Amino acid sequence: MTAAHPSTAPARTVLASDPDWWRQAAVYQIYPRSFADSNGDGIGDLPGVTSRVPYLSSLGIDAVWLSPFYPSALADGGYDVDDYRDVDPKLGTLADFDEMIAALHAAGIRLIVDIVPNHSSNRHAWFQEALASPKGSPARDRYIFRDGEGPDGTEPPSDWQSIFGGSAWEPVGDGQFYLHLFAPEQPDFNWHNPEVREDFLRTLRFWADRGVDGFRVDVAHGLAKDLTAPLRSHAELMEMRLATDGSHPLWDREELDEIYAEWRAVFNEYQPPRIAVAEAWVEPSRRHRYAAPSSLGQAFNFDLLRADFDAAQFRAIIDQNLESVALTGSSNTWVFSNHDVVRHATRYGLPADGGDEGAVGKAWLLSGGRSPEYDAEFGLRRARAATLLMLALPGSAYLYQGEELGLPEVADIPDSARQDPTFFRSPGVDVGRDGCRVPLPWEASAPAFGFGVDGSDASHLPQPESFARYAVDVEDADPDSTLNLYRRALALRHELQGDEKLVWLDESLVGADADASGGAALLDDAEVLAFERPSGWRSITNFGDTPVPLPAALGRVVLASGPLDDGALPPATTVWLR
Ligand code: GLC
Ligand code: CA
Repeated sequence: MTAAHPSTAPARTVLASDPDWWRQAAVYQIYPRSFADSNGDGIGDLPGVTSRVPYLSSLGIDAVWLSPFYPSALADGGYDVDDYRDVDPKLGTLADFDEMIAALHAAGIRLIVDIVPNHSSNRHAWFQEALASPKGSPARDRYIFRDGEGPDGTEPPSDWQSIFGGSAWEPVGDGQFYLHLFAPEQPDFNWHNPEVREDFLRTLRFWADRGVDGFRVDVAHGLAKDLTAPLRSHAELMEMRLATDGSHPLWDREELDEIYAEWRAVFNEYQPPRIAVAEAWVEPSRRHRYAAPSSLGQAFNFDLLRADFDAAQFRAIIDQNLESVALTGSSNTWVFSNHDVVRHATRYGLPADGGDEGAVGKAWLLSGGRSPEYDAEFGLRRARAATLLMLALPGSAYLYQGEELGLPEVADIPDSARQDPTFFRSPGVDVGRDGCRVPLPWEASAPAFGFGVDGSDASHLPQPESFARYAVDVEDADPDSTLNLYRRALALRHELQGDEKLVWLDESLVGADADASGGAALLDDAEVLAFERPSGWRSITNFGDTPVPLPAALGRVVLASGPLDDGALPPATTVWLR
């Protein structure tokens, strides 16, 4: 064997046929409309993604998860799909898609695409056919149509509320209504219909054949439904929503196993098998159903995303999820931010809400971001600490575009610029999710912060002036920036892989040396979480308000989320030691 030349070796090896690549991958979510715009129309697109592959490469991620890029009227930011096997002309062409995936793969980055199986858009050919076809026709059977209620049949079939607000039933003018658990532009499919099932298998093969490495499955807990009459009331459904026995008529039903077993068979036709990760907002005790190897293989755990910045909550969540993956042999999925929630740098700058589904973040948004309790700097400091902790955990880490810049949520989007259906359907109650979907700042002094090309100032959502300090070029040049923290952490993380064990540190494990130098005090502190990973890697986070001494016996510092304070670990700081 000839000696290797490290300086000339490619940064990443060509994607090997490793069936386990996903187990500890850092996956970066791209919301394509807001990532990079290649033609200056204000809408990010696929050539924009391709042009930024060097950036993704320098970040050190293992895979990209691309949110929907299919033809869509954007009634729900692309989660209203007109055609599952094409690219939205606003975002490019299938040829652009092929170029993008080739560029990603050449850089050693895999690609996961978003599949939206619970509903199509109302512009999908099948839904148009259903509208044009009579009641009781096979075309209507692909969706969920029911007769109206009341003396003249003008009342909806039930009082169900859609997730975005308002009735979940929309009349079509001939006495029938269709079900839409989300916006009226998103009619729910009937998954008892064999054509629906076949068509999704075809879609999975279509993208897998084009080289995609996996799928993020939207609303994975929703597909199977039991609409046997009489329908229960909305209040009953709300009461049942935590059911863990598959008895809820709309969510988390047992029949899903059969659907995903069919999908699994398709995934396994490929080499390596295609992977899938379920977006399933179910009770933690049910998550393993989606994560099972006979099913999708992995499921998001949104527990940290819902938690406060709190040592006890973090520790309980980590333990619970380590147990949960042990049930199936899956690997964990950690996530703090995505396109549906207030960004974590902002959440952590607000008072704790006891895990109340982001209630505090929503109230802050409603106030236009004017809450006196908001502390942006502190929020970012905690976010950096939390992320560094997460990146040391076993399992895969899902990152959302912009969090590597420490971007905050944008609260002051004018109503006239808002796009999220949640805003329109729940007026005055929820301003929606546009604030985390604002186009990324690439260059501090360029129009639209370099989102577009050639000085275009177009941006489909307005960017605040404050984005300048988070711009990629500014952070690139600052060794202490959040961007450079993520880069260093992701690079070091590769050395952590290969073993999915985590051991909580207590004094007995650390030994007498540490004891003598104050290690016991640190490891006993309820506000400190410390754990060890393979080959002696340690991650220690101070969730408290006062600095804690960091005895040298605990190891050599390899990375810290913020400046250390004379050998002590300051509040809201994580340190990696070796
Ligand atoms: C998922 C998506 C969200 C979308 C909804 C309906 O929760 O993440 O953005 O609005 O499904 O498709
Ligand atoms: Ca564009």
